[in-house]
This record gives sequence, C-alpha cells and structure tokens, in this order.
Amino acid sequence: MQQTLPVTMLPVPPRLRPRTALVASADGSFRQRLAQVLIGLRWQVREAEGGAQAWAEAETSHPEAMIVDSWLPDLDLEEFLKDFRASFPEVDLVAAGGSSAQDHPRGPYRQELLYALQHCQDNDTAVWKAAPVTQEPAPVKICAVLLPTRPAAEVRTEKDTAASGERLPELIGNAACMLDVSRRVRLVAPRMTPVLIEGPTGSGKELVAEALHRLSTRSRKPFVALNCAAIPEALLEAELFGHTRGAFTGAVQGRVGRIEAADGGTLFLDEIGEMPPGLQAKLLRFVECGELQRVGDNETVRVDVRILAATHRPLAQLAVTGAFRSDLYYRLAVFLIRTPALAAHLEDLPLLVEHFLARLGREMPVKRLDDGALAKLKAHDWPGNVRELEHVLERAVILAGDAPLVTAAEIDFGTLVN
Ligand SMILES: Nc1ncnc2c1ncn2[C@@H]1O[C@H](COP(=O)(O)OP(=O)(O)OP(=O)(O)O)[C@@H](O)[C@H]1O
Ligand SMILES: [Mg+2]
Repeated sequence: MQQTLPVTMLPVPPRLRPRTALVASADGSFRQRLAQVLIGLRWQVREAEGGAQAWAEAETSHPEAMIVDSWLPDLDLEEFLKDFRASFPEVDLVAAGGSSAQDHPRGPYRQELLYALQHCQDNDTAVWKAAPVTQEPAPVKICAVLLPTRPAAEVRTEKDTAASGERLPELIGNAACMLDVSRRVRLVAPRMTPVLIEGPTGSGKELVAEALHRLSTRSRKPFVALNCAAIPEALLEAELFGHTRGAFTGAVQGRVGRIEAADGGTLFLDEIGEMPPGLQAKLLRFVECGELQRVGDNETVRVDVRILAATHRPLAQLAVTGAFRSDLYYRLAVFLIRTPALAAHLEDLPLLVEHFLARLGREMPVKRLDDGALAKLKAHDWPGNVRELEHVLERAVILAGDAPLVTAAEIDFGTLVN
C-alpha cells in the first residue's frame, strides 16, 4: 500500500548557479508545465518520456535533480527509482507520486508538486522535500531539491500565464474576448469543476473542451465525447450509461457506456440542450452521486469523471422556461466559458486566415490572399463562424488553382451556411 508524504518547504541559503533538472514523464502537458515552472526558477530543464530515455539523458546531461512522474510507460517505477539511485547517487530524486501502477489519486499529488514549486518564490529560497513511502521493499531515500529562486516579478508560473491572458496555442485570436476564453480555460482546467461551454456553431466549443482536458491532470486518461443531438433518443441512454446483454431488443452483448469509458478522464457532453428530459433526470442523479446503473442492471457502478458540456442554445433561458432542467443546469454550469461569434472578433480575421492557409499549405504550396479577397472576408457576417471561414478558405485555395494569390473572385460563400 503506497502513501505519500506532503510537500514541506524549508528556508535554506540561496544557490546562485542555474542547475539542470531532468523531468521524466510520459505526459507531455505535465512535463511542459513542470518545465515552465522550473525554468522560471532558473533551472535548465531536460525532458524524457520514459525511464529508458531518462537514464540515457542522465548519463549525458548530468542533471543535479530528476523529477519522476508517478508512472512510467516502459519501466516499473519502483525498480527504476532503486536502480537509478544506485547508479546516480549524486542526483537528487523526486517522485511525483507513489511508486506503483495502482497508485491511488495521482492527480492531486502532481498538483501539489506544481503548487509547491510555483510558490517557491514566496520564500527567498526553498527546499522541496518529497518522500514516496513504501513499506516493501525499503523506503526510497528521502530527497531534497534546492530550488534557487529569482525575484517574484521575473518568475512566470502557470498562474501568472493565466492571469496575463496569454492565449492557448490552438485557439487562434488576440481579440480581448478570445484571450478571455484562453484565460478561463487555463484557470479552470486543473480543477474538477464542471464547465459549460456556450457559443454559436463553429466557434470553437469542441476545441475549448479538448484544451480543458489537455491542460487537466486527467490528460493521460480518456477524453470521451458524446453528441446528444446525434443519437436517437431511444439509444442515448444506453450509449451514455451502457447496458447489459439482453437489456433491450438487439442488445446481444453488454456494453459499457460513454460515462464509464471516460473513467478517470473527461466526459464531454456536446449539444447538451438536446438531451431529452427523462435522460436529464438520470444524468442529474449521476452528477450528484457519481454512481450509475447500466440499462438492465441493478448493480451500481462508481465512476470518476470530470464533466464538460457544450451548447449553442441559451441554456440558462431554457432552464427558466422549463425546457431544460434548472437543477441540472446549475450543476453543469458551475463555470461558464463563452466562445464568441467570429463577427465579434473580426480583427482576428488576418491571423485566422494565415493559420488556415498555412494548414492548407501542408498539401499544396501555401497561398496568400490579396487585399480584395481579405476585404471581401471582412465584409461577410460569418453565420458559420470559424468553421465557415475554414471551409471558405479551403474552397478558395482549390479555386485559385496554381496561382499563388487568392483573389476576391475565389472567395465564394456559396450555400455553406444558410
Ligand atoms: N479560435 C480558433 N482558432 C483556430 N481554429 C478554430 C477556432 N475556433 C474554431 N476553430 C476551428 O473551427 C472548427 C469548428 O470548431 P469546433 O468544432 O470547436 O466548433 P463548435 O463550436 O464545437 O461547433 P458546433 O456547435 O457546430 O459543434 C474546427 O475545425 C476548429 O478547429
Ligand atoms: Mg461542436
């Protein structure tokens, strides 16, 4: 049975020389976040995706410290830690969690680690202590890592990034309303808080949901999406909750539902406004107690998911008129993110155009728009938002043939959106 000790911070004399830390984790987003914080604390950072790579990296880059995730894709963590310590006794070793694959909630511990590192600038300097405690075999040696700090103003942490409104790489747009979306995503992503994403069609709701998962501590676990509008009402319940064999005509085999499939990860309920009232009541029960019953089954299953929902309809209004259950609305809309219509941030048009033309340029030489083409785009009202822009540009690039420039003649809004 694994246990982890809490992180302790102790003041120590400062160290001035930048040192090298090696971060070993299969989770790119966790590595990135750790690296960001460590670089802010004047560490040089090397990264490794697994144990073997970390070992090779340690041999060549001689790090002073290594931070290891609670799980490695290629090696048993406990064995790895023991061998590593024997071969590299000079390297301070920090395990970001317990050391077995069955390790219980890893997320919070990784969060604690990030939190501790991020708050180092609160002390002049700090010692970060982490002790993965194992009863069998002998405990991994308690290690301390000295973290030299620099003035708080210079230190960029995940929190600062969120506060400064720096945008997410996948969410193109520097308009204030778009930066606010990125800021909100960064702030709420690491939490369990349910998020409702509201916005018109094609405005990036799904993109936001994926970013929330990517930036969460659940990023290594499944992201499961269910479009409530795309599945006939009769099948939606079984799709969501799963069913036993013979639960209904045609159920020749039992199947787990999308909720269970997302266990440990994120469940994204798209077009939640289309969910039939009967199912809203069942979903509410699950949201309240975290337990569900498969269709045709009496047994209760406990599932751990973070719920994200999206809608293009004004769900709050629907809740007032009774078209959507208000109790469920309040449970889902604990945190609200609105993706703006493209018409509300037309100043981002050139940036978006550049982004999509570059993407289209993967298949053929990159084209540019002439002034007439850009003016035509600016004059359009974009009912289909960014998705419509994506399609208009794809069409224009095809129509332009071999010409390197796209002109107004190739900008055809056609009947893409009514
Ligand atoms: N700000 C943005 N930057 C880059 N691409 C974007 C942006 N917003 C939307 N997109 C792209 O536009 C397309 C539509 O986005 P998405 O599917 O997230 O929209 P949606 O709001 O879920 O639409 P719907 O309501 O129709 O499901 C996707 O290809 C997405 O990558
Ligand atoms: Mg969508």
